[in-house]
Amino acid sequence: MTMETYYAPGELPETPEPKQRQDAWRTTRVVGGALPRIDAYERVSGTAVYPSDVQLPGMLHAAVLRCPHAHARVTRLDVARAEAMPGVLAVVHDGSPGADIPWHYDDEGKAKSRLFDPHCRHEGEEVAAVAAETPQQAWDAVRAIEVDYEVLPAVADAEDALAAGAAEVREGGNRIEGETYERGDVAAGFAAADAVVEMRFSTATELHTPLEPHGCLVRWDGGKLTVWESSQGVYGAQGEIAAVLRLPLSSVRVVGHYVGGGFGSKLSTGKWSVIAALLARRSGRPVRLFLTREETLLVAGNRPGNVMRLKAGATRDGRLTALDFEGIGSGGAYSPDGTGILDWLIRDLYTCPNVRSRTTSAYIHAGDERPMRAPGHPQGAWALEQTIDALAKRLDLDPIELRRRNVPTVSQARGGRPYTSTGLRRCLDEGAEAFGWTEARRSAEATQAAGGPVVRGVGMGAALWIAGAGGPPSTAIVKYFADGSVNLNMGASDIGTGTKTVMAMIVSEELGVPLERIQIEHADTATTQFATPSGGSKTVPSDGPAVRAAALDCVEQLLAMGAEELKLPAGELELRDGALVARGDPAKKIAVASIPAFRRRRVVVGVGYRGPNPQETATCPFAAQFCEVEIDRRTGEVRLLRFLGAHDSGRVMSRLTYDNQVYGGIVMGIGLGMTERRVLDRKQTGKMCNLSWHDYKIPTAMDVPAEMVSLPIEMPVPEANTIGAKGLGEPVTIPTAAAIANAVFHAVGIHPVDSPVNPTSLVEKLAAAGARAERSA
Ligand code: MOS
Repeated sequence: MTMETYYAPGELPETPEPKQRQDAWRTTRVVGGALPRIDAYERVSGTAVYPSDVQLPGMLHAAVLRCPHAHARVTRLDVARAEAMPGVLAVVHDGSPGADIPWHYDDEGKAKSRLFDPHCRHEGEEVAAVAAETPQQAWDAVRAIEVDYEVLPAVADAEDALAAGAAEVREGGNRIEGETYERGDVAAGFAAADAVVEMRFSTATELHTPLEPHGCLVRWDGGKLTVWESSQGVYGAQGEIAAVLRLPLSSVRVVGHYVGGGFGSKLSTGKWSVIAALLARRSGRPVRLFLTREETLLVAGNRPGNVMRLKAGATRDGRLTALDFEGIGSGGAYSPDGTGILDWLIRDLYTCPNVRSRTTSAYIHAGDERPMRAPGHPQGAWALEQTIDALAKRLDLDPIELRRRNVPTVSQARGGRPYTSTGLRRCLDEGAEAFGWTEARRSAEATQAAGGPVVRGVGMGAALWIAGAGGPPSTAIVKYFADGSVNLNMGASDIGTGTKTVMAMIVSEELGVPLERIQIEHADTATTQFATPSGGSKTVPSDGPAVRAAALDCVEQLLAMGAEELKLPAGELELRDGALVARGDPAKKIAVASIPAFRRRRVVVGVGYRGPNPQETATCPFAAQFCEVEIDRRTGEVRLLRFLGAHDSGRVMSRLTYDNQVYGGIVMGIGLGMTERRVLDRKQTGKMCNLSWHDYKIPTAMDVPAEMVSLPIEMPVPEANTIGAKGLGEPVTIPTAAAIANAVFHAVGIHPVDSPVNPTSLVEKLAAAGARAERSA
């Protein structure tokens, strides 16, 4: 699955236009409410069965031998001793029958490597795998595999990889030309500017660290394979596994009822599923293969670090005249996507007639990127939003005012298509108001003027997200039983965002059935309807309208039955509190449960499809986030005091899961801004230096501000889809790190251009700035 497939669903085949009525909601009774998640008990009690919890009789445990070097060639591999170890039932490697499977493809469809490629291009690359009765026996056997490596020179950094004489990752060179984008006349734009700033930025590589590691449990029944996979999309995983194993889709069933976090890294499956399938076939037993934490850090994907240069010009009255951007990054040893959609905000967040952007990716000897919550965007925001604040300072404008003067109404990067809704101005204004921006800035400046070591700063960042419109295809089935309960059947995964709860609320809205009487069957390719993977912040706007249409199909059938009973045209009836009532004469009614035809049939089955998106408009979520920091100038320590996220994601579907997304996105953004950094041994071995959760820091409760506020800017957008919602999960993490950086700039006058902002880096920058000030004094 490529990055485009989840943010450009327009490329997918259209489903049939739904025959159900398509008027969008005006008011809602259930949707938008603050209802607990329908699976809250299962989640907090530990009784929810995640794929990593599934156990089968006779199940074996797998372990993988991985290359310990950043770049090496396997010169000798002998598995005889491992095969003879107690409890070992299968060992597979490149020489095993059926294991010579091509892997990683280029644009022309040529394989770049193999499942077990003796030429290992990154630390952690798969060399062989074992299945044994116990995990301990499997790991003992992995250690008993005899393997010799010829260690080769490695390159661990995108800029190094582009330099002359760099170690080659791929034949044909490490450079991957990215996209060049240009509109207007950038030189003329800078000539017309009253102020121009140019800065260099970098963001560190962030690693995927979902609570449930990546992996699966597999079982063969004859020629048919069942995979319990921790996945964001069972149909996507099914397609990938079937293609690799050359099986028809009907021979591969993927089930993924719960998923302990994915954030983009579980949009696709990985080698683990195929290795487990091979081991299971060889041993004739079910095989469980979940990665260890260290393995996920090496092979389960990352948000590429980027080096960026941005030059921006504006007139005295705060109109942007030109933006000129350059970005470099690496997607690892096989993925060309080191700079995927990195520049989208530069192109589209603010009105600017003259924009130029160039991105270049490079192969390096490290694990591949995988999409991570708004790919490219938080990095682009890191550069753009700090540049905007630098410009505001230069123009002596309030940072919010400068942004307000450049709010777009059309998507300039999509040829000027109007947005179905643009909540950016309201996010800026209402967010600033709720945050107390003006007073907070003033009181922070008072701490700075006081001259003490501890000062405060207030900053903000804005964002949009390229996707979040959703679209077809999606199908859902609602079974409405005569006892007034419901079964909802849909393919989508609930990746922790509360999808199931939102969908149940949609059914409840239309059928009047309470949530506790709705059962959901989902995320199983054998038994549920088709859905694209949950990603791109598009699950609710893609599948929500399909679920609503399925519920409305049930309503239509009930109305037809009631009309017959009441001898009234169906159009004069409506469903209200479990009864069909004549609009003009409420005395004429019949309880749904007592409609004879319904009682005889026991169930009505409604089918709903997601209709097409409008073609002349663009639909994107918008955001602004605000934060206040306290900095100790002696130590460089930055404390986050409070955060506010103001988000336009269309209709608020479920207030509690909405707020969960906002808080979670901010926490993840704090990771990018302040704690997370993959450290590769750039000068020597190329290996990862902080290969553990102890040394690779994700934010903990101690790093999160005590005050976090979610401020929905609710603007239902009926033009976009029949539920009026846009995506939320990704925009919530885009402006966070940039907002922190701008608050740091406000506090101490230094742009922390390199992420993460930590005491070491900040104290060095403060010392350098102090020395400069002394020299010039
Ligand atoms: Mo997201 S990075 O589309 O799961």
